[in-house]
Amino acid sequence: MSSIAPMVLADITQVLEIDRLSFPLPWSYASYRHELTENKSAHFFVALRAPRRSWRNWFRAPRGRLVAGFVGYWYILDEAHISTIGVHPRWRGHGIGEQLLVAALKHAIGLGAVEATLEVRASNTAALNLYHKYGFEEVGRRKNYYRDNGEDALLMTVKPLRLNAQFTMHS
Ligand SMILES: CC(C)(COP(=O)(O)OP(=O)(O)OC[C@H]1O[C@@H](n2cnc3c(N)ncnc32)[C@H](O)[C@@H]1OP(=O)(O)O)[C@@H](O)C(=O)NCCC(=O)NCCS
Repeated sequence: MSSIAPMVLADITQVLEIDRLSFPLPWSYASYRHELTENKSAHFFVALRAPRRSWRNWFRAPRGRLVAGFVGYWYILDEAHISTIGVHPRWRGHGIGEQLLVAALKHAIGLGAVEATLEVRASNTAALNLYHKYGFEEVGRRKNYYRDNGEDALLMTVKPLRLNAQFTMHS
């Protein structure tokens, strides 16, 4: 398991690397800086791994943050829109994406969100399964939405958004 923490400016370099490995159209440094410093609706979190200690440095305090994944959402008018979520390919399949999604949804519920929305590539089976697991349903489709390959985007929503047994399991 990882620990979840609010994303800070010093995380951007690692997040950019995960973004580049995860998306055909990655965000820029300036976009993340804008989200963290100027966009009042934005809430971003990272999943942190404890750095591995070798026998050489076992007794030293571990330095730095090791970012395994990230999630961001915009809170607008009672609605949480998941804007991005990604896990480093090295750490996929270990529950980190789920932890990040749950952390974002819980945070949004804490702010008063009653609905969560997102867009996902129609072919993104891993993400679709993750969203279905947390109650998201397809409510629409944007034709030829993605610039790189003209793929459709599925619009998904979960409403009402509330804490349930699954959420408490992962707290
Ligand atoms: C989507 C993503 C964030 C999932 O992160 P992850 O840490 O690998 O996922 P988890 O290990 O937490 O898995 C949670 C659930 O997601 C689904 N899932 C994850 N990987 C999957 C895969 N390879 N195939 C099918 N379903 C998968 C499953 O429902 C899984 O639940 P289960 O373990 O009970 O079956 C990750 O694959 C990723 O970063 N992809 C690239 C970026 C991306 O597509 N982001 C979404 C944009 S909308």
